[in-house]
Amino acid sequence: MPHLILSDIHANLEALEAVLADAEGKYDRILCLGDLVGYGADPNAVADWARQNVAAIVRGNHDKDCSSRDSLEHYRPLAIASAAWTRAHLTEQSVTYLQALPRGPLRYEDFDLVHGSPVDEDEYLLAASDVNPLLPYLGAQATFFGHTHVQGGFLLARGGVKNIVPRAALELEPDYFYLLNPGAVGQPRDGDPRAAYILYWPAERMVEYRRVKYDVEKAAGKIRQSGLPAPLADRLSMGV
Ligand SMILES: [Fe+2]
Repeated sequence: MPHLILSDIHANLEALEAVLADAEGKYDRILCLGDLVGYGADPNAVADWARQNVAAIVRGNHDKDCSSRDSLEHYRPLAIASAAWTRAHLTEQSVTYLQALPRGPLRYEDFDLVHGSPVDEDEYLLAASDVNPLLPYLGAQATFFGHTHVQGGFLLARGGVKNIVPRAALELEPDYFYLLNPGAVGQPRDGDPRAAYILYWPAERMVEYRRVKYDVEKAAGKIRQSGLPAPLADRLSMGV
């Protein structure tokens, strides 16, 4: 059975439920690459679900910053408003859970889980030039990362870095290193509004990239009614 690998759920319960329904019966363990909360209207429901169902998880920047009182100055205005709203609405149980999440990289079986990059949980790996310097720091043949909300990833060889186009079946070749991004469950930014995730068969070294439609209007309506900034609702239907 493969593992179900999720990232960047961002308090979007409708997207999470659609992913779980789509993957039902197809996986054994659930692994998560962080950013359970922030941006969406259901941070406690998502944190509760993760606490009860996830086998391994690393924290994301929003998990860290929404469960602390640290300065939010490094964020853009929309993220600041979202983090302030989330801080005000998290239960004590959610805060305790989020504060205890480990910082990546986290070794699981023979692969690694990180939020941003293997050297910096807050780093965005968007282009080959971001990834090229990382080869000496990769501890495993496969490293799963999130943070960018873009499904895909990178293949690294001594000769250079190539982008991976998401597909139904990607077999990992022994001579390469892989940085694999399942995309965002709750706030995709790759132009496709459908929730994104990965199924990974460790023994076969096989990856399946998947997308699933969810009730975007319901999630967006909750954001508008909650007092979160309206652009956070609008962007869900555009996948940006
Ligand atoms: Fe995120």
